Amino acid sequence: MGPLLGVLALVTLLSPGLACPGPCSCSTKKNGRLLAECAYRELRDVPRGLSPNVTILTLSANRLARLGRSSLAEAPELQSLWLGYNHISAVEPGTFAHLRHLKNLDLSHNRLADFPWQDLGGLGALQILKLNNNRLWRVPRGALAGLRELRSLWLNDNALATLARGTFEGLPALAQLQLFHNPFNCSCGLFWLGEWARGTSAALSGAGSTLCAEPARLRGRAVTAIPAELCVPPSAQLTYLSSLARGGPADGLTLSLHCSVAGSPPPEVRWRVQTAAGRSLEIPGPAAPAAPQRRFLAFRNGTMAIPDFGKEDEGTYTCVAVNELGSREVSLHVALAGSEGPAEQLPRDDPQPGQPGQPCAGGSEQQPSGLGENLVIVYHVPRGVRSAAGGREFPLGVLPLALALLLC
Ligand SMILES: *[C@@H]1O[C@H](CO)[C@@H](O)[C@H](O)[C@H]1NC(C)=O
Ligand SMILES: *[C@@H]1O[C@H](CO)[C@@H](O)[C@H](O)[C@H]1NC(C)=O
Ligand SMILES: *[C@@H]1O[C@H](CO)[C@@H](O)[C@H](O)[C@H]1NC(C)=O
Repeated sequence: MGPLLGVLALVTLLSPGLACPGPCSCSTKKNGRLLAECAYRELRDVPRGLSPNVTILTLSANRLARLGRSSLAEAPELQSLWLGYNHISAVEPGTFAHLRHLKNLDLSHNRLADFPWQDLGGLGALQILKLNNNRLWRVPRGALAGLRELRSLWLNDNALATLARGTFEGLPALAQLQLFHNPFNCSCGLFWLGEWARGTSAALSGAGSTLCAEPARLRGRAVTAIPAELCVPPSAQLTYLSSLARGGPADGLTLSLHCSVAGSPPPEVRWRVQTAAGRSLEIPGPAAPAAPQRRFLAFRNGTMAIPDFGKEDEGTYTCVAVNELGSREVSLHVALAGSEGPAEQLPRDDPQPGQPGQPCAGGSEQQPSGLGENLVIVYHVPRGVRSAAGGREFPLGVLPLALALLLC
């Protein structure tokens, strides 16, 4: 060993162009590329003393446990970096960011639970990225976008349960993708993957073993075959009803808006209220008793009640239905008749047209569709009429003073 090291040291001294760390062997390839071969050396750190011109560095099958930010600073010209079969569990952000010429990066068979994804932003030349056989549990949204040369991406044998829609967009050169042997949760959040796979020219290698681990009823089914009927984007329809208060302290109208939603999984309903007076409220769901927006009572069944509807409540009422597939909004503009020019004061931008055929049904009435804007006028009930009415509920369309539908 002694003489060999001596010779290596001599070579290092004599030709700085071939500077080679002690444990490695270095050679110039025919094409002029400089190889530093340091695999199978029981190394615990990236060796120092690499030539700044080294283009290929093999460090596979060593004992590297973590890569610090400066561990590859000596080798900015690297095109291929082989780090497979180590014990790497942490890579400091910035470690790879300066490797502008890197084409091949192999970190497979390590212990990575995370990767410095932001470093990929600087690796525009990357063609092959091997991260398989690690413990990765996420690929952040947009992390791969911009890898315009990436041909081959290995993510199999990790701990990925889901992937954000669009993860593989912005990869025009992608030809091979390996995702098998991950514990995928085939909720609708992953439904896009099947659509993507059918539309891409990239091959999903080992597609037959890219399977759902959850939920139980889909276990063993291909991730790309989540049944479409389980994943339906939300639809929503707004209806309304008004009634006079039955006695009690409130002496006005209670306006009830009902948002009926459909979709799979069942959408959650949120409300947004934009009053003409400029008040804007987000009502996340059934209002807690102590919530500040007690003025608007949102119930679990999708109904929102506004007791004693007054001028300050005029405005736009929007129901937002959300599930994993997306969201859908429907709005009603509500005005109180008797205030000057109620309709003119209301925001009219971007009204949601009603569902074809069922625009916005008011109580028992169905209105013709196609008028584009949903405007409800609530008529002020004069005091005399109110006491005379004495708590009766008015079916819609019987008494125009209860509630009239102007436009739908
Ligand atoms: C790196 O390569 C360039 C051109 O191939 C050469 O001029 C230079 O001497 C080399 N530098 C070192 C430190 O080997
Ligand atoms: C799967 O995903 C759904 C929707 O995101 C989630 O509600 C469920 O808890 C997940 N299941 C597991 C086992 O993580
Ligand atoms: C929803 O629940 C509220 C309060 O329990 C009730 O007043 C309302 O009539 C219900 N709406 C529908 C459409 O069932």
